[in-house]
Amino acid sequence: MTQSSVNILVLHGPNLNLLGEREPEVYGRATLDDLNALIRNHGKKAKATLRIFQSNHEGVLIELIHKHRRWAQGLVFNPGAYSHYSYALRDAVSAAQIPTVEVHLSDIQKREEFRKVSVIAPVCLAQISGKGANSYLEAMDRLLLG
Ligand code: DQA
Repeated sequence: MTQSSVNILVLHGPNLNLLGEREPEVYGRATLDDLNALIRNHGKKAKATLRIFQSNHEGVLIELIHKHRRWAQGLVFNPGAYSHYSYALRDAVSAAQIPTVEVHLSDIQKREEFRKVSVIAPVCLAQISGKGANSYLEAMDRLLLG
């Protein structure tokens, strides 16, 4: 680890393990492994230290945020459908005080009504949506730039 290394936690929420086969017309053909390879490559160039997890369970995501609250200097978080209704995840982000960027592969403003609201976005630095894998990479840049 270099002196300038920044610790970034990347969390993928429910159903993102099915990327590549899940609604490819919305989410594309890349798998979660493909996406994580792009994230790791971007992190390597920026000399960031990454920890990446995916979970389909709200409580597991909450515990990962708690566990990394002193380690992570930034959180890139795709809460999946939890974005739209999980006050528990919102509270976890708020409590952990990790600077967080919420990300979405698809453009949640251009889909069903229920996706247009994120209850987590108000406790995040920013929300980046609709840019596919680039949503994650731009979120990392936002955190790395401080
Ligand atoms: C998503 C958008 C959410 O509305 C959806 O429930 C997901 C994926 C995205 O990355 O575009 O699971 O977070």
